[in-house]
Amino acid sequence: LASAEFDLGEIDEGKTITVKWRGKPVFIRHRTPGEIDTEAAVPMAHLRDQEADDERVHKPEWLVVLGICTHLGCVPISGAGDFNGWFCPCHGSHYDVSGRIRKGPAPLNLEVPPYKFVDEKKILIG
Ligand code: FES
Repeated sequence: LASAEFDLGEIDEGKTITVKWRGKPVFIRHRTPGEIDTEAAVPMAHLRDQEADDERVHKPEWLVVLGICTHLGCVPISGAGDFNGWFCPCHGSHYDVSGRIRKGPAPLNLEVPPYKFVDEKKILIG
């Protein structure tokens, strides 16, 4: 399947789900107001792969990223690591709640797949 629809209605604030798209894991996180504020306030100078949070989301409360570590492709663990986003157990990469690399060997942020909102609580990835 090239594109796939996912329902966000059941994902509580602060929770992440993992879905499959084109055989790859995709993380969908319902971010809290605190997380949104934290990520918006991160100075560019603190980022290895410099992307503002608002360039990575369509709506601030929803983060959608591929669940593939940009180092060597392991699947990071949600809600873990020094920046409360993801932690890759393979070689210790830490990602923030915008999916941006903050510490460890990975060179790039978690990739944002192409997607759009089809209604208030539904996205189409692909
Ligand atoms: Fe994730 Fe190496 S594959 S840190």
